[in-house]
Amino acid sequence: MFNRIGVIGAGAMGRGIAQLFASSGQQVLIYDTRAEAIDDAIAFNRNLLQRSVAKGKLSEADFEATMARMQPAAELDALKDCDLVIEAIVELLEVKQKLFDQLEAIVRDDCVLATNTSSLSVTRIASTCKRPERVAGFHFFNPVPLMKIVEVVRGERTDERYVKGLVELAEAAGHFAAITPDTPGFLVNHAGRAFGTEALRILSEGVATPQQIDRILRDGPGFRMGPFELFDLTGLDVSHAVMESVYEQFYHDPRYTPSFIAAQRVAAGLLGRKTGQGFYRYEDGQKIEQP
Ligand code: NAI
Repeated sequence: MFNRIGVIGAGAMGRGIAQLFASSGQQVLIYDTRAEAIDDAIAFNRNLLQRSVAKGKLSEADFEATMARMQPAAELDALKDCDLVIEAIVELLEVKQKLFDQLEAIVRDDCVLATNTSSLSVTRIASTCKRPERVAGFHFFNPVPLMKIVEVVRGERTDERYVKGLVELAEAAGHFAAITPDTPGFLVNHAGRAFGTEALRILSEGVATPQQIDRILRDGPGFRMGPFELFDLTGLDVSHAVMESVYEQFYHDPRYTPSFIAAQRVAAGLLGRKTGQGFYRYEDGQKIEQP
């Protein structure tokens, strides 16, 4: 169903999505309003795949073929023949709606428009589209090739054929696809609130340190990472925005109250790995304090 895929937004998520589908045999076009972001994304993926070649996990021929399937798009117009366009741009409703409006004037009527939004309503993104039935959520996790799950979010008007098509596409690329309704936080970020928001509450009550909480959740229930390690990986700005959005969408249900500690740390730029300091400190992307 989807042979030619457009990826819009060549940041942390877009580059991973592009790599995933180029590796699984689709033609991928990457577009970003910043041309240098496209070059960076392709160079980043080249580097990652070359490391797989060096480790003997990918043949030289497959490497060349995968890179050949991943092409830059200089203009949005270049996506006109795509069967599917996945947007991974900035998390702002109006900006995403405007992009889908531009896309509808370019792509074929049967081209599916997917959003990688983590916290916005898919139904609302689709609400300004001429064909809301072709809009679905396709919510990946960072880093995309390694986090082998994706939520296929069914907006109120999403056509069931497209939901099925996205599930098949994800499964063919080796990901487990969970179909979720379009509720705040979908499934993963809704369930994840118990993990992250509660950990921040324990911290704010002075019961334990981030290091202690992370250690207990790794060694006890066996999570691969503790909540503070995960905040540092995702970026606290991203996680805090999701917590605020879920809280708003549930009409201020106190269960979802975001943390003032997170708000303060975001204001201070203590975002995690990407700024070198979050709940832990990092040098060259490596944690330098062990919990
Ligand atoms: P990012 O900031 O790393 O990359 C966004 C890219 O989009 C930038 O390169 C920017 O130049 C480009 N862009 C912005 N507006 C654009 C437009 N109108 N047209 C074309 N390109 C545009 O962001 P990131 O982290 O990759 O997030 C992208 C989306 O994925 C957001 O909706 C976010 O909520 C979602 N998401 C992020 C996750 C994460 O862990 N970072 C996890 C799951 C979803």
